[in-house]
Amino acid sequence: MVNAATTLAGMAWTEGATVLGRLGYQWDALGERDALGAVLTRSTASPVWDEHEFFQAGRADVDRLMTDIARRAPWLATRRALDFGCGVGRISLALSDHFVEVHGVDVAGSMIARARQENGALGRCHFGVNRRPHLHRYQTGTFDLVYSRLVLQHIPPELVRRYIPELVRVLAPGGLLVFQLPTVIWDPRRSFYDAPVRGRVKRALPKRMVRAYRTLKYPFFRPRATDMEMFGLARDTVVGLVDRAGARMLAMTPDASHGTSEPGFEYWVTRPSAVSRRPNAPRIARVA
Ligand SMILES: C[S@@+](CC[C@H](N)C(=O)[O-])C[C@H]1O[C@@H](n2cnc3c(N)ncnc32)[C@H](O)[C@@H]1O
Repeated sequence: MVNAATTLAGMAWTEGATVLGRLGYQWDALGERDALGAVLTRSTASPVWDEHEFFQAGRADVDRLMTDIARRAPWLATRRALDFGCGVGRISLALSDHFVEVHGVDVAGSMIARARQENGALGRCHFGVNRRPHLHRYQTGTFDLVYSRLVLQHIPPELVRRYIPELVRVLAPGGLLVFQLPTVIWDPRRSFYDAPVRGRVKRALPKRMVRAYRTLKYPFFRPRATDMEMFGLARDTVVGLVDRAGARMLAMTPDASHGTSEPGFEYWVTRPSAVSRRPNAPRIARVA
């Protein structure tokens, strides 16, 4: 007999899978149309990227990251790094100058195909497509560094809530997770639920019934493939997720890389090794 918990877990999985299907479809289309332009938006004055300049921008990001690591987490080992939402490998390729082994995962096959091409036959990076709401392809404690740049802001919050514990889980003890995320920007789901009701028959229905119908319909709603969705999460929510995953917030610094005036933060998270964790130690060491 199927019990209620199994049914609910199944529904949550189906919903996650549908959202991921939609994300994969959109980013695949973006990657096929103009992968570099989808990863980093250019000014309308010169919309096409020079490839060298594009990958140079990745190197500059990683140089900044490594300088900050030397200051904030000088203990960090450099065996394995994961680039979550790696796109065409802009960051992964630069990370491979500092880490022995670099893995990049992305929801879009078109992005991964381009990343493999950039990596070349002898490349040090390993790229793969992941369309699951988890990272079970990696064992617990695999990576010294998990980095995710310009990615979580494009993932609906219900999925980000599932990924953050996974990003912590795959961290080695003493490892470092760095990601940025704006606070709430725009929730297309809310706009979908609250859109004006059209048609005489639908307008005659109780509002609650229309909302329930839209809740069921939303996972199958497809915006135009080349629309880039943007989301955010409140800082306290991120802190709670990190805390419940058993990790410690090392630093939160104001960040505007999502490109709007909404506030955002770069989060620096570490997974304490079992021995170093005192039971009542504060989990937030510093808020910059
Ligand atoms: C703006 S690009 C950034 C790429 C890369 N991080 C960089 O900075 O060069 C966002 C990337 O996130 C990927 N992405 C979106 N949702 C994802 C998900 N659920 N899992 C993995 N990757 C995802 C997209 O396919 C896209 O390649």
